[in-house]
Amino acid sequence: MRHEKVLVLDFGGQYNQLIARRVREQGVYCDLLPYDMSIERILEYAPIGIIFTGGPNSVYADGAPDVDPRIFELGIPILGICYGCQLIANDLGGAVTHADTREYGKSEIDYGASPLFAGMQPHNVCWMSHTDYVSAVPAGFSVTATTKTCPAAAFEDPARKIYGIQFHAEVHHTQEGDKILHNFLYAVCGAKGDWTMSGFVAEQVALLKEKLAGKKVLCAMSGGVDSAVAAALVHRAAGDNLTCVFVDHGLLRKGEAEEVVSVFRDGLGMNLVKADARELFLKKLSGVADPEKKRKIIGEEFIKVFEAEAKKIGAVDYLVQGTIYPDVVESGKGSSAVIKSHHNVGGLPSVVDFKEIVEPLRDLFKDEVRKVGTELGLPDSVVWRQPFPGPGLAIRIMGEVTEEKLQTLRDADYILREEIAKAGLARDIWQYFAVITSTYTVGVMGDARTYEPVIAIRAVTSVDAMTADWARIPYDVLETISSRIVNEVEHANRIVYDITSKPPATIEWE
Ligand code: XMP
Repeated sequence: MRHEKVLVLDFGGQYNQLIARRVREQGVYCDLLPYDMSIERILEYAPIGIIFTGGPNSVYADGAPDVDPRIFELGIPILGICYGCQLIANDLGGAVTHADTREYGKSEIDYGASPLFAGMQPHNVCWMSHTDYVSAVPAGFSVTATTKTCPAAAFEDPARKIYGIQFHAEVHHTQEGDKILHNFLYAVCGAKGDWTMSGFVAEQVALLKEKLAGKKVLCAMSGGVDSAVAAALVHRAAGDNLTCVFVDHGLLRKGEAEEVVSVFRDGLGMNLVKADARELFLKKLSGVADPEKKRKIIGEEFIKVFEAEAKKIGAVDYLVQGTIYPDVVESGKGSSAVIKSHHNVGGLPSVVDFKEIVEPLRDLFKDEVRKVGTELGLPDSVVWRQPFPGPGLAIRIMGEVTEEKLQTLRDADYILREEIAKAGLARDIWQYFAVITSTYTVGVMGDARTYEPVIAIRAVTSVDAMTADWARIPYDVLETISSRIVNEVEHANRIVYDITSKPPATIEWE
């Protein structure tokens, strides 16, 4: 089925993916594509509307990102946000001026009559983040919103269907921001809203059924949300022709390996091969204390174990990958310095004998992937699983990994998860986990002296793991976590709470 589509042109602002997610939330499919897309490709893409995102540049600077001026003549509705609105002003003959101070945060705003602001409170709060501002709107445009510091917080030429807003409607702090996007999509662009996750499942299953009919399909299951949902979706189409391989390296949290088997093999009736490599990994990690060495060993062994299982299955036609839309958008960008060598199952293609890769989630944002997972009947524990590093608990035990420490960590981590869930904080905190440090301290239990490694609790809020802040867990919840761990877990006598943001720290300790 061909969906109506909106084109979000990416000028490099921090909220760009959020704009695309908000459009999708309104039931309209969109793609986030580079701002320098040619007019020919735009016409081929055939969007019902175009959104220019924000960006870090000044529109009047040399070499600033710009659009082909013919874009304004296409008759396709345009909404410019922040940098995008300044670009409209600049390109069509208005003026953009540098302000002495940056306007950042919540601002009171007055909305006038505009199709964009229909049905909204005339006076409200919006979210601003800019230094330049539109000081004169182009001929034919009228100002439709103002703030104290922004004479043209919004402006438009409804005849040409071109709209600019200086503030960020996509950010939750802009009250009724979703209505602005809704109005643009439905009243201005004439969207019908044909993008739903139940529709997506039905379409994908039909497409995959055709593509995968009679073919052998293989999937590496890590327990993570993306691979789980990809596998469940493909399973609907391929049934027993799909084999999932799950490598149990013994570094998962308490109950996780069992859950993978119970959800996918027992629950969904999937062909799931579980490779029990727990002893092998422990042996390979014995005596290794260096974090990078641990990561490397785990990455290499993982591939070897998977390869051995894949060989048993033989040549396959398709390999399923849980690639999602942010991976696709971000893969175009330059690589940053390697802080930690990440271990992912993404390195598998070279060791599997397959003809083609199938990535059924490559158009979806994470929140959409979760909805699809729920549609497919996966439990919340899988669909809402927190991000978990490939090397697992090995990088949450400082120094050498031993079975005893793994046991302590699993038990402590389980209590933490239970208490966070009980406190209703699970979905507000990006990641929360326990760490076994390499510092030993003295404690007293009963009348006896104890000497055990300090256990740290790490809990952070974040939107993308690139930056993070430590979560302000209420003291009473921390108290329960601490007292339960020292009382119920063997080898635990002292708990500390990590209050460092990222940067300068990282989320994981190793
Ligand atoms: P850091 O510790 O670098 O972590 O702030 C950022 C995010 O990445 C996760 N992480 C990993 N994920 N393989 C993964 O798939 C890895 O090797 C790995 N190391 C860290 C971490 O849990 C956080 O979400």
